[in-house]
Amino acid sequence: MLPPVIVMFMLVSFTCGENPAIQVTLTDKGLQYGKNVGTGWVQEKLPLVTLPDINGKIGYGIIVIDYTLTGITITKCDLPEPSVQFYQDIGGFKTSISGLSVALTGGWLTNFGIIHDGGSFNMAIFNMDLTSVVELGKDANGHLSITSVHCDAQIGDENIQFHGGASWMFQKFVDYFKGHIKGEIEGTICPYVKESIETLEYHLQAMNVSFDVAEALTFDLSLTGVPLINASSMNLGLKGELKDIKTHTDPPFEAQPFTLPEQPGYMLSMGLSEFTLNSASYGLYSAGWLKALITDSMIPSHFPVHLNTSSMGPYIPQLPKMFPGLLMNLQIYARELPMFSFHPGVVKLGFQGAAKAFAIQPNGTQTPLFKLNVDSEFSGKVQIVGGRLNGSISLDNYTLTLAASEVGAFKTDALERFTRAGMMMALSKLNGSLRKGVDLPRMRHAQLVNTVLSVKEGFIAVFSDAQVLI
Ligand SMILES: *[C@@H]1O[C@H](CO)[C@@H](O)[C@H](O)[C@H]1NC(C)=O
Ligand SMILES: *[C@@H]1O[C@H](CO)[C@@H](O)[C@H](O)[C@H]1NC(C)=O
Ligand SMILES: *[C@@H]1O[C@H](CO)[C@@H](O)[C@H](O)[C@H]1NC(C)=O
Ligand SMILES: *[C@@H]1O[C@H](CO)[C@@H](O)[C@H](O)[C@H]1NC(C)=O
Ligand SMILES: *[C@@H]1O[C@H](CO)[C@@H](O)[C@H](O)[C@H]1NC(C)=O
Ligand SMILES: *[C@@H]1O[C@H](CO)[C@@H](O)[C@H](O)[C@H]1NC(C)=O
Ligand SMILES: *[C@@H]1O[C@H](CO)[C@@H](O)[C@H](O)[C@H]1NC(C)=O
Repeated sequence: MLPPVIVMFMLVSFTCGENPAIQVTLTDKGLQYGKNVGTGWVQEKLPLVTLPDINGKIGYGIIVIDYTLTGITITKCDLPEPSVQFYQDIGGFKTSISGLSVALTGGWLTNFGIIHDGGSFNMAIFNMDLTSVVELGKDANGHLSITSVHCDAQIGDENIQFHGGASWMFQKFVDYFKGHIKGEIEGTICPYVKESIETLEYHLQAMNVSFDVAEALTFDLSLTGVPLINASSMNLGLKGELKDIKTHTDPPFEAQPFTLPEQPGYMLSMGLSEFTLNSASYGLYSAGWLKALITDSMIPSHFPVHLNTSSMGPYIPQLPKMFPGLLMNLQIYARELPMFSFHPGVVKLGFQGAAKAFAIQPNGTQTPLFKLNVDSEFSGKVQIVGGRLNGSISLDNYTLTLAASEVGAFKTDALERFTRAGMMMALSKLNGSLRKGVDLPRMRHAQLVNTVLSVKEGFIAVFSDAQVLI
């Protein structure tokens, strides 16, 4: 038998084996904002809910009356400000409301032997106290799970008026058994709360934790561990991996751990590790998306240099002599997996590419000419200003070397200068659209406001408030 310490260690290493590439932290400011939005929403929805029937018996000796209160709706509700807080001990939330008063209306039915009777009623409940504690967790598929672990409901006082039928007689009974009915009502509240939480749990289980991105990748956003909750915040760790949509292969590297700084002044903090971008890069690279065929028809007609053997004369003098007047094409591809790295204030990308040149013979045969290695390093800056994400990109290093040649050796300096100039032109065009930026994505019912972004060592941190639009 394994000693308990080893078992413990194994369990810990299984559950903590995977570092999240995305972290989301909800601060107390965010929780309180959520509470206010939620309270307003509940207040608005309350008149629309029909509460569960209340069944009970009141009796004395052999006189037992079965009663049902049915079709109970809320006519008026003074919803006091609830208190919601992170509950570290059980890893969840604690919600309490005290001094809630509600006016209800509905129908009543009684059975006393074979005598059936019925009518309507009005009820007022005063000074109700309700406390609910829920625990958050993670299920086997990486969904967030929620369970009710504690609920307590106490009613201060209650008053019922019955109308119709033999209500005059029934009313007397009820006044006498007031405490009993109060107990019956109290007894229905927590099961109702529990049921609502189970409905929420059902919706959480049905939520997708992975989404297809374009036609190439799928984004895995399942939880890597249970939510980490302390008195001031809740932190969710998400896998944050973009995988090839068909093979779902994991990259041969792992997400590195990072610590998202605490920023209690913002409702939310989000951290995105460089792993997310690199997993996307791996998915695209291994599925063969990082390649392209460049043909002469893609080059604007006014451009001085074209993809044909005579046009290459100034750079490769022997080419027009060996293959006069032929069109060419270029197969360009990533030689190695392009990797992103995040450093304070800057995102770097190394791209090691190759270009294979072919001459197109009149009969359509493609004759290989030469292969160039093109290595470049880019650095980018990103910013969020006024709800827009913008940035810039610059070329830090660019080298072009001859890797193989079927047409004999040639100097690459002139070709390097020329292609670098082409690259700079393309990048400055890209710079223009990056500078303009894009609006932050916005959901139908919520948007991020006061958002700031900063690039740290190994991850990007975003701090933001949210605004719910109802
Ligand atoms: C969840 O994912 C499945 C399969 O990818 C898809 O068919 C379904 O529409 C998604 N559901 C939602 C709510 O996005
Ligand atoms: C809660 O945890 C976060 C890290 O997730 C930490 O920065 C913060 O100081 C903790 N707060 C308290 C009150 O322990
Ligand atoms: C090759 O390109 C040059 C422009 O650089 C153009 O003048 C010439 O017509 C092209 N030749 C062929 C065969 O397309
Ligand atoms: C196409 O033309 C080239 C050069 O003239 C020749 O070497 C090659 O054998 C031809 N290919 C075919 C399939 O005819
Ligand atoms: C983003 O736009 C702002 C204002 O429009 C500008 O000041 C800032 O330099 C831009 N950021 C980058 C990285 O280009
Ligand atoms: C540029 O790349 C070359 C070849 O990879 C390397 O030797 C050189 O050190 C790099 N220069 C800079 C400034 O990074
Ligand atoms: C893009 O813009 C940035 C900042 O404005 C500048 O440093 C960089 O050199 C530009 N890159 C190109 C390729 O024009």
